[in-house]
Amino acid sequence: MLRNTTNIGDPVVIDMKNVGIRYDLGPEVLSDINLSLRRASFHFLTGKSGAGKTSLLSMMYLAQKPSRGVLNVFGKNVNFTNRDALALLRRRIGVVFQDFRLIDHLSAFDNVALPLRVCGMGEREVKKRVKELLQWVELDKHMFDRASTLSGGEKQRIAIARAVINRPDILLADEPTGNVDSDIARKLMKLFIELNKLGTTVVIATHSEKLITDFAYPRLHLSDGNLRIYQPNEGLRGGMRII
Ligand SMILES: Nc1ncnc2c1ncn2[C@@H]1O[C@H](COP(=O)(O)OP(=O)(O)OP(=O)(O)O)[C@@H](O)[C@H]1O
Ligand SMILES: [Mg+2]
Repeated sequence: MLRNTTNIGDPVVIDMKNVGIRYDLGPEVLSDINLSLRRASFHFLTGKSGAGKTSLLSMMYLAQKPSRGVLNVFGKNVNFTNRDALALLRRRIGVVFQDFRLIDHLSAFDNVALPLRVCGMGEREVKKRVKELLQWVELDKHMFDRASTLSGGEKQRIAIARAVINRPDILLADEPTGNVDSDIARKLMKLFIELNKLGTTVVIATHSEKLITDFAYPRLHLSDGNLRIYQPNEGLRGGMRII
């Protein structure tokens, strides 16, 4: 069943106030980001290559702390949260990495089963859930193939299945449809929408204008280190409105 651990009394799951991020002594990649993502919201994240999409997501999945400003995830200020507590928060966040980050020597099945086994789920239930999801992403034939032997699009679907298998409270997906054909892309979007309907907060970084126009969700757009939010009917040029 759905596990929704977000406190209903606090509908904001990710909150950024004047957040900036820089790498080493370089210039700020993102500056003064102010953003509140509510429970069960759905956003696309856009911006040119190098605009900072992956950097923003990496703060949201708690892999990087902001260089300045305040980041709260599930109501916890990450600057005052220790490593163990961060690790527990991270279990509630599903991530599809731009470079997949599968465990190469494990099978597709074992990669997808990982988050369930970490939570101590019994093997019978693990088998049922993983099989069902691999069928959905049309990879049941490759279930027991090593991850390293799969194609780019197959690896991407495994990475997505791993991210959604335990119905996370937040799903962050970095270019999740970049390596698949348009039919599979639509099917994967259906999966994200389904999860969103069950209460998951979803952020999808994408370069695909087609995806953005086909699915009417608001858009977080990064440009020159700044973030703007556009509603689905607003183009980035002309008539644009910042909210
Ligand atoms: N680990 C790092 N060390 C130093 N600089 C980094 C690091 N990661 C990202 N950057 C820099 O931060 C900027 C934003 O990179 P980021 O990967 O967040 O962009 P992006 O919008 O995800 O790009 P793409 O669409 O190509 O994936 C780039 O200029 C990049 O060179
Ligand atoms: Mg990126």
